[in-house]
Amino acid sequence: MAEKAHIKVVVNGVEHHSEVEPRLLLVHYLRETLGLTGTHVGCDTSQCGACTVHVDGQAVKSCTMFAVQADGSSITTIEGLAANGKLHPVQEGFWEMHGLQCGFCTPGMIMAAVDLLNKNPRPSEAEIRHALEGNLCRCTGYHNIVRAVQYAADKMAKVGAADD
Ligand code: FES
Ligand code: FES
Repeated sequence: MAEKAHIKVVVNGVEHHSEVEPRLLLVHYLRETLGLTGTHVGCDTSQCGACTVHVDGQAVKSCTMFAVQADGSSITTIEGLAANGKLHPVQEGFWEMHGLQCGFCTPGMIMAAVDLLNKNPRPSEAEIRHALEGNLCRCTGYHNIVRAVQYAADKMAKVGAADD
């Protein structure tokens, strides 16, 4: 068996020290070692986006990287998105606009959408569709997912304006 490596990561604000096998994928580390099963595995081969999380503020398909590569990083998963018991506007948008059916793709979709809005707070419909290209959904037909992201962009703009 390969020698284990020590990693330190901060996940949803909590520091973890773990001994991991060098080939352990980040998604399996999150799900099986930390028990954060909100991050899903749809393919394991970087096709579907169900495993999307944020690593140091960037959306990453967590089946495309090893846990050891995340050493020293700060990671946010779907479990860490709501703040003080309040849904993130993107989560609220998926709820309000019926952006999910079975929900399998939803955590990854939401993490990818949050990354988009962090970089581009007022995306066009085409930009939303382009940003979510790497996330597959077998149920919704994408229309309501786009509406959910538009809902969130509007809400975040209003909250931002109220804060000014
Ligand atoms: S499980 Fe990672 S892209 Fe599908
Ligand atoms: S809601 Fe079922 S796969 Fe997207």
